[in-house]
Amino acid sequence: MSAITRLGVLTGGGDAPGLNAVIRAVVKASANSGIECIGLEDSFDGLIEPDRSRPLTPRDVTGILRLGGTILGTTNRGNPFAYPVNTSEGVHDYSDRCVEMFHKMGLGALVVIGGDGTLAIAHQFYQRGIPLVGVPKTIDNDIVGTTNCFGFDTAVDFATDAIDRLHTTAEAHKRILVVEVMGRYAGWIALYAGVAGGADAILIPEIPFDIHRVAERLRERDRWGAKFSIVVVAEGACPKGGERTLIESAHEGYVERLGGIGARICEALAAETGKETRSVVLGHLQRGGAPTSFDRVLATRFGGKAVELVKRGDFGTMVALHPPDIVALRLGEVVGKTKTVPLDFDLLLTAKALGVTFGD
Ligand code: F6P
Repeated sequence: MSAITRLGVLTGGGDAPGLNAVIRAVVKASANSGIECIGLEDSFDGLIEPDRSRPLTPRDVTGILRLGGTILGTTNRGNPFAYPVNTSEGVHDYSDRCVEMFHKMGLGALVVIGGDGTLAIAHQFYQRGIPLVGVPKTIDNDIVGTTNCFGFDTAVDFATDAIDRLHTTAEAHKRILVVEVMGRYAGWIALYAGVAGGADAILIPEIPFDIHRVAERLRERDRWGAKFSIVVVAEGACPKGGERTLIESAHEGYVERLGGIGARICEALAAETGKETRSVVLGHLQRGGAPTSFDRVLATRFGGKAVELVKRGDFGTMVALHPPDIVALRLGEVVGKTKTVPLDFDLLLTAKALGVTFGD
């Protein structure tokens, strides 16, 4: 095996706080090992056109540790293996083009930073012979094999702060406040932020809810004198026997967009309890801003480990947090799956023991 002298790094899928910290770690660790780093712009699009990539030196990444977003840009358009793309040279199969350009650019390896969708694409490229290492990213924390993805802690921190703020106004007006958080088909953000913020009801995709039970719990609070309540709902939560609420269905390579369940619950709880009820959608605020120190450290460890794996030639892998260690897992064992909240998870059981309702 010949030593790698040039690697490409890209970020794919929705952004998450900590992406820049990974890029910085990859660039610095590579440079210190004599490996040149090429930043590929807008996910795999950076492998389509020659002008969609640029060399990254330690100087280029100075000061980005604390920045949200990604200096490389990203996209969450669907699978490039399924969609031919129009380039300046005509219509090309995106995947063939990427493989061709990888070699033309003289790259020896790729570091692919992304969520489940991007990592599944990376795995397909690996099977097509591209040596690569994956780095798990998502605020949803739903990637199998790693206890944490960077971005999750920052999202939970933001949502907790929002719930704290809503507490004071809910209490002042004796209202019910419904807070909708992200997370797709997993309830991690809702569970952690709900517990950290002291929510009275937490509704997650893993537990279909009965709105009557939620309302009963809130009425009970009124009876003992707490005249306000906080309900945290994950965007992917759905009523028993009902459907998820969508903003937009999947189309032309785009996945479905979840959202709107908070407003529905707000209306239903107002009708059930007769109380003034308001709802707030935290939306993309959860993805913006500076990463927490936890996410900066995790992202840096992931980036450092990814370069170590590239140097060892340990490809087709994904870095993962197995506290207290960062380990390498086979990509094939983690992609195409979703890590949801186990029903026997201690935080879930503790929340229930403390009187939080999940609507079941
Ligand atoms: O996967 C991260 C995430 O923020 C989800 O929580 C959310 O459903 C989705 O991305 C939103 O995607 P978009 O930025 O395309 O609206």
